[in-house]
Amino acid sequence: MLLTEQGREVALISRLAEKYGHHRAGLLPILHAVQAEYGYVSEFAQQQIADLLGIQAAEVYGVVTFYHFFNTESKGKFVIRLASDMSSIMMGARAIARQLENDLGISVGETTPDGLFTLEWTSCIGMNDQAPAMMVNAEVFSNLTPQRAHQIVETCRQSLRSHRSVAGEISETKTNTLSYAGYKAETALTKALGMAAGDVVAEVTSSGMRGLGGAGFPTGIKWKLAAAAPGTDKVIICNADEGEPGTFKDRVILGKFADMVFEGMTVAAYAVGAKIGFLYLRYEYTFLRPHLDAVLETRRKAKLLGENILGKAGFSFDIEIRMGAGAYVCGEESALIESLEGKRGEPRNRPPYPVEAGYNGLPTVVNNVETLASVCCILDKGAAWFAKQGTERSKGFKLLSVSGDCARPGVYELPWGTTLAQLLELVGGQGAKSVQVGGYSGQLVPSSLFGHKLAFEDLATGGSIIVYGPQRDMLEVAENYLEFFVEESCGQCTPCRDGNAKLLEGIRLLRHGECSSRKLVDLIGLCGTMQITSKCGLGQTSPNVLIALNTHFKDEIMARPVAAE
Ligand SMILES: Cc1cc2nc3c(=O)[nH]c(=O)nc-3n(C[C@H](O)[C@H](O)[C@H](O)COP(=O)(O)O)c2cc1C
Ligand code: SF4
Repeated sequence: MLLTEQGREVALISRLAEKYGHHRAGLLPILHAVQAEYGYVSEFAQQQIADLLGIQAAEVYGVVTFYHFFNTESKGKFVIRLASDMSSIMMGARAIARQLENDLGISVGETTPDGLFTLEWTSCIGMNDQAPAMMVNAEVFSNLTPQRAHQIVETCRQSLRSHRSVAGEISETKTNTLSYAGYKAETALTKALGMAAGDVVAEVTSSGMRGLGGAGFPTGIKWKLAAAAPGTDKVIICNADEGEPGTFKDRVILGKFADMVFEGMTVAAYAVGAKIGFLYLRYEYTFLRPHLDAVLETRRKAKLLGENILGKAGFSFDIEIRMGAGAYVCGEESALIESLEGKRGEPRNRPPYPVEAGYNGLPTVVNNVETLASVCCILDKGAAWFAKQGTERSKGFKLLSVSGDCARPGVYELPWGTTLAQLLELVGGQGAKSVQVGGYSGQLVPSSLFGHKLAFEDLATGGSIIVYGPQRDMLEVAENYLEFFVEESCGQCTPCRDGNAKLLEGIRLLRHGECSSRKLVDLIGLCGTMQITSKCGLGQTSPNVLIALNTHFKDEIMARPVAAE
């Protein structure tokens, strides 16, 4: 019996290794398939995979243990992962955890003795407009109440008796009028193909478009560099990892405007001369996969993908969807490329930049979902139209994912240059004590600065906005952030690996009134060191929150009894 089961597993792995040409780049899809079939990736499976991909078993182990959604030992048949980010906590995630613990008779982190349920916390799952939310295996449930959580557990139990699978339930996200609405598929691509590739790059450059994933690098310049890089095999990657806590606008774009994202990728491919495309989708968005596959298939049938696209001789490009496996740092473009190559998502040293040597050493453009969708608007309505919106140094619009203490959480499209005060009025967040702009790695802005503008030159943001009402304890907020960063640091460099743990320890001391003034000064010094010496954006920005507390919320820190030195 055991041998038969192992034989089946070997056959599955062999089929998959064959499909991916025995290349290491197939490692994550293979691990996903094994995990989906067996619930974990056993030592036996790791060895088989290693043999068939021609790598060491230790390397496979290194990858399996890097990602949150792979495990080396069996878990419950239903793995419940409850989102633990600040918006979820504020909206009652702890009460949901208590309900689930009572229903299952276990604590978070445990598996029921019958092996049916495992209960875990997980970081933001991209559902903050509908918090609290949780995953049951790959299914997502939002707007949870303790009663609903109880019912979902019952549904899981019933599904075993009825042999029916459990389907997730999420709500429609509130949005204002998005300029994407009304876009007609093919418009941008048809226009682009009527132009010389260099003119497409020039059009995007003159629009003033800057990348909307957070860093704000000018899109036209990125494309120009990739176009100029030598070689004919180039790669376009759409970054749909959306792991920054509090952001969910890419989820909405992919759900409503997937055509525009794929079309933006195809325009980019034409502009830089790429043949290969990947959409790297975070595992938490598995529920979007059938829809995205269907859109891709329709586009292939309409000759919008494949060989000689729309009859343009020699222009061939196609897109493959690859799933992430739960690692925030994989949103960083070089870590994402490592992940696509079947490795741990560890950021690379730069230079070389991806536009010179990215996926498998090929010139690679990595762009955010929103950037690629917006490219369609630029080609459709013209660079001049786009450049008229926004501010001098931040052109066009931005989609904001708004959550937390506000009456109308959702996705809002606003021109760059909108002030925080204007945004709060729109979303019903007046009276807020502070707003987190740009997710946990962004800026914690106190109410005295709500006149500041959302713009790369003022308050830059990839789109995550979390509103904190007057009742919130900012040290609880900071503790939640640092717990996230400790969990998500890839561990490659010391300032980030050890520094985040030290900051978390310090914040806990502050919360308990046990941090001396001298210790606080040391912690702020450590923040500065981390910002300068960390290798990637994660460690460079994770100290932001403590610096903001020390600058703007000193009263909250000092109001706690401070231990004598
Ligand atoms: C820790 C970390 C996480 C990131 N996560 C994302 C992400 O989820 N999505 C994204 O588009 N960019 C993310 N980025 C930024 C990317 O590295 C990159 O700048 C972006 O994908 C480029 O696309 P754009 O120019 O269109 O914005 C992240 C950066 C860091 C340092
Ligand atoms: S800063 Fe942190 S996440 Fe980035 S490379 Fe260093 S250890 Fe990894």
